Parts: sequence; structure tokens; C-alpha cells
Amino acid sequence: MTDLNPLGRKGIVLAGGTGSRLFPITKAVSKQLLPVYDKPMVYYPISTLMLAGITEMLVITTPDDADAFQRLLGDGSAWGVRFTYAVQETPAGLAQAYTIADDFLAGNPSVLILGDNLFYGSGFSEQLQERSASQRGCLFAQQVADPERYGVVAFDDSGNPTTIVEKPATPPSNWAVTGLYFLPADAPAAAATLTPSARGELEIADLNQIYLDRQELDVARLDRGFAWLDTGTFNSMVEASEFVRVIEARQRLKIGSPEEVAFRMGHISASDLAALAEPLKASGYGDYLAALANG
Ligand code: G1P
Repeated sequence: MTDLNPLGRKGIVLAGGTGSRLFPITKAVSKQLLPVYDKPMVYYPISTLMLAGITEMLVITTPDDADAFQRLLGDGSAWGVRFTYAVQETPAGLAQAYTIADDFLAGNPSVLILGDNLFYGSGFSEQLQERSASQRGCLFAQQVADPERYGVVAFDDSGNPTTIVEKPATPPSNWAVTGLYFLPADAPAAAATLTPSARGELEIADLNQIYLDRQELDVARLDRGFAWLDTGTFNSMVEASEFVRVIEARQRLKIGSPEEVAFRMGHISASDLAALAEPLKASGYGDYLAALANG
């Protein structure tokens, strides 16, 4: 088997934040543990990192939610990966994930994924693996109807990215930055140079701007045949659930199942998968895994 992760890239799953746009739902439960149709939201980004060939991941949560995440995900060995946990004491901005992850990364390049982002599209695994094996940084952008809700990329006349602006009142384009960031090994050091923005946060957009200015960052455009969904509002949560339900019913294939990805990536055997399926049979999720294990 070819080495899917030649640079030893490590993953960061950022599942902090107050989830205030989903209050009162998220007053007692982490947003990233809420369901997106038939599985917890955080399964989707974890599956994405696994498809990128990542096996070492740091899961960053709020102090209150740390136990629940560990109960759900364990140490990762059941899925052939390794989870390490850290807490973000206060929601001081996404870029803070890199200073929290400094020791965990131990000089390795990283890929950060936001715990509420869902990616689905043909050929994406290959694209992820290619980016993971590159020394250059990479962001993924997609056209959206409401760019003011996101980080937005401005391009020059030749179509090269020039700046990234966080939640601009007047967006320079309709290309939103998705919550998936491949950055070089010195990202924690670069993050440590940031100062808080006007809203008091260490902005991921500012960190990315450092790499854009150094010409070490690509912006890959996800085309219209690709689905990128986030789940930060009531409507987008329902939309994401409905999307997953429709595709799964139509194809009888699951989106974002870490057990399935672990099996398909060769991290676990068919009998491992069958054992994982057993306690999940009451919900039908286990029947799906069992059928997969039986070939
Ligand atoms: C964050 C980032 C933003 C990015 C978005 C993707 O926003 O700050 O740049 O476009 O995730 O989901 P948030 O969802 O934290 O408001």
C-alpha cells in the first residue's frame, strides 16, 4: 500500500465554541455532538480527515464537553486511529487551535477541520490525499449565496487569491472559505504572532493571510458538483440532515461513517467491523456496518 501520509501530517478537529447561534439547543449539549440525520455531527469531519490519510488527531473541545466527546470517540483504536484530547478554555478564536495543538503537532504539518463542516463529493479523497502530501498550505473555497456569513477570498484579475476577509459586510467575492485548512509545520509559531481582531478573536483568516502573503498557500475551488454544508444555524442543520438522508436512502451508502471509512482504508478488518456493528444494531446503523463486513 502506498504511504497516504508521507509528511506525517496530523489532524486537529476543532469542536469548541459556545454554539450560541443554536441556543437554547446548545446550552447543555455541544453543537458538534448534535445529530446530522443518523450520526453525531463530529463523525463527518473525522471521516474526512481519515479519508485524507490522517490517523493522529487532536480533538479540541470546551472544558464542559470534554467528557462527552471522550465517551463517544474513545481513544480511536476501534477505528484504527488515535485521538488525543485538549480543551479550549475560552472561545478565543479558531487560530488558537494551533497554539493549543503545538505540543501535539510536535513540528509536523497539520490539517485542521471544524467540527461542524460536512464535505461530500466524488474524487475528494484523492484531492485530500494529494494536498496532505504537499508541503504547501491549502484552503478549499466554494461559491455560496451568503458569503457575509463566512471567511471570503478576494482574487486578483488573474484569479489568484489575494486576501481573506472574515465575515465582510461587503464581500469581495462569493467564494467562502470552508472549514478545512492544510497548513505547514510552522503554523503554531505563525499563530503565536497574531493579535486579537476587533471582535476579540484570533482569526483563522489572519493566519491564512500570513501564508497567502508568503505565497505558501493555495486556494482550491470546489466546483458546483460538490456539497459543502455547515451546520451552524437551525436551517443549515435541517438542510444537512435532509441532504444526508436523501443521499443515503437513494444509494444505500452512508456518508461520514468513520467505521466504514476505517474498514475501507484498511485500518480494521471485516471481523473488527462486524464487532463494531453488533451493539449498534438496534438503530439500523449496525445493520449497515454488518452488511458491509459480510461483503
Ligand atoms: C468559521 C470561519 C470562517 C469559515 C467558516 C466555515 O466561521 O471563521 O472563516 O468560512 O467557519 O464553516 P464560524 O462558523 O466559526 O462563524
